[in-house]
Amino acid sequence: MTTQPHDSQAGQIEVDWSWTSSDDDWIPPEIDTSRPSAARMYDYAIGGKDNYEVDRQAVHEVARLVPDFRTVALANRGFLIRAVREMAELGIDQFIDLGSGIPTSPNVHEVAQVFRPGARVVYVDNDPIVMTYNRALREPRTGVLALDHDLRRPQSLIDEPKLRNHLDLDRPIGLLMVAVLHFVRREMAVKVIEQYRRLLPEGSYLAISVVCADGTAPGVVERLEQVFQGSTTPFVARSASQVEQLFDGTRPLEPGVVDVTQWRNNEKPLPVRILGGVAQIS
Ligand SMILES: C[S@@+](CC[C@H](N)C(=O)[O-])C[C@H]1O[C@@H](n2cnc3c(N)ncnc32)[C@H](O)[C@@H]1O
Repeated sequence: MTTQPHDSQAGQIEVDWSWTSSDDDWIPPEIDTSRPSAARMYDYAIGGKDNYEVDRQAVHEVARLVPDFRTVALANRGFLIRAVREMAELGIDQFIDLGSGIPTSPNVHEVAQVFRPGARVVYVDNDPIVMTYNRALREPRTGVLALDHDLRRPQSLIDEPKLRNHLDLDRPIGLLMVAVLHFVRREMAVKVIEQYRRLLPEGSYLAISVVCADGTAPGVVERLEQVFQGSTTPFVARSASQVEQLFDGTRPLEPGVVDVTQWRNNEKPLPVRILGGVAQIS
């Protein structure tokens, strides 16, 4: 399926959910509905149907301080699309999307395949809901592999035979870590990125977006920490310099590591500041 990624005039993406197979009453047996999950909360925030009451309550808790939380989530999604487009235009036709989330459209493979028709994507997530919905998709997705894996284990991910069959690891990869590192401890994230940099072929690129405490409205980080405390993925806040540190040893493309609303875009800053950038990693 090749859907033209569409930015509205406001610079926000419209998400098309009509092609998913979800049924509002269906709860897959492996899903823990007693605690919110980041994947399902994000799904709810961007307008999806693959979430439960506990997730909606958690998003409403955040929305009491940030009524426009949906706009924040969509701004991040807009960054993801622009980052993939940029990498594809630079010649990248293989992507690993770490913390891919519940499948949505347009997704990474749809954007990449507009610019690189044979593009291949590996979606990676460790929340069982994500694999459940990847399996349940109505339409086969050409060039797509979905793996249930923890991004904090780079070596075992890159050694995974299914991934090696799907991608050519002698050619550059676009590695995406979009809106996921605020669920990974700070020192761990730095170490993990360093390992990916070492494992990926020369000429590979990295895209990161992550919540930044500096510039986020007062009280919001504390609220996020509180809400995610009870979830399957505790939330970790970072200062601007800690976000910069994630790009150590890389060569960020213009305009550098900036608010995602400003990355190859010109929107106003939002109450939750998400910094992002795309960088050549080797
Ligand atoms: C907020 S969603 C972001 C989805 C997508 N990357 C985007 O920006 O639109 C974060 C996702 O990261 C996943 N995640 C969190 N920790 C992870 C880990 N250690 N390994 C793999 N996935 C993880 C969550 O399950 C969730 O689906």
